[in-house]
Amino acid sequence: MPVILAIESSCDDTSASICADGVILSNIIANQAIHQAYGGVVPELASRAHQQNIVPAVQQALYTAKVNKNDIDAVAFTRGPGLLGSLLVGVSFAKAFALANKIHLIDVNHMQAHVLAHFIGDYKPSFPFLCLTVSGGHTQIVLVKDYFDMEVIGQTLDDAAGEAMDKTSKILGLPYPGGPLIDKYARLGNPDTYSFPEPQIPGLDFSFSGLKTAILYFIRDNVALNPEFIQQNINDICASVEKRIYTILLNKLYKAAVEYNIKQLALAGGVSANTGLRQGLLALCEKNGWESFIPKMEYCTDNAAMIAIAGYHKYLKADFVGQEVAPMARMPF
Ligand code: KG4
Ligand code: ZN
Repeated sequence: MPVILAIESSCDDTSASICADGVILSNIIANQAIHQAYGGVVPELASRAHQQNIVPAVQQALYTAKVNKNDIDAVAFTRGPGLLGSLLVGVSFAKAFALANKIHLIDVNHMQAHVLAHFIGDYKPSFPFLCLTVSGGHTQIVLVKDYFDMEVIGQTLDDAAGEAMDKTSKILGLPYPGGPLIDKYARLGNPDTYSFPEPQIPGLDFSFSGLKTAILYFIRDNVALNPEFIQQNINDICASVEKRIYTILLNKLYKAAVEYNIKQLALAGGVSANTGLRQGLLALCEKNGWESFIPKMEYCTDNAAMIAIAGYHKYLKADFVGQEVAPMARMPF
């Protein structure tokens, strides 16, 4: 019954989790509010905040799980992809902790961990399934053949879906991160008020940069006619943008499901917290008689529980790394 301490520090959330025999006992997430004032994550500030938050987050994770540090069998950490300075804090902590306690080290790929969040709890997909992984930095359709056998069959050629959300919110003058705010306003608006173009990208790939420009020009032109345009129509603008983003995503996911003949569809990553996308996937699966898998909210955005569950499955394979391990800002599957 391995007890695993997991650390996540790839971007701007410092998180620690304890998992015992594949069951998550705690999942502590320290958000970094400092970036709001800058309209995006400032890497230098993120690494400093991780440095301040990491020990309290681990202490809280142990306390909540009622686990003594001497009972831990392995420490799992996010090796990449992510901001190098942020990753370094988690990797260094994990190495020191493993060395001091003479326990195993397990490196985890952050994007694989987002997918493996589906193996927390009882309602799990079976292999193979498709996972639409949508975050601030990634937009991928992943063919999941096994725990660590995943193939990216479609991805963005430019911006990620989360970036499209965050950039739209910036154009609208909303604080960072904009995704949750767009979601909030969208719930009060009519998604069919404004129409934005669907990019014509062949195959299963995505593109969001043209949409971003279309939104920018749309807002600029309307504000020139009416300076109060944003304030007066914020709900309808957000609802319309959100609908365009999730229909782009779901149209490709549908195409992938038909092409690969897969009837289990999953969502992962920060953008999978989006209400429109979640409802859209449910409707798509219901219509086609397919099964949908949507993680709990706390496992959608960055969290260490997903690192813990990935670490647990690596532990079962005795897949450990040595003290020479280094973080990777870019880390392939
Ligand atoms: O996976 P994540 O927490 O961090 C990365 O690895 O990037 O994803 C963060 C992204 C941000 O772009 C944020 O705006 C978006 O997820 N996001 C949302 C929602 N909650 C977070 N986008 C739309 N609706 C939401 N409710
Ligand atoms: Zn993430």
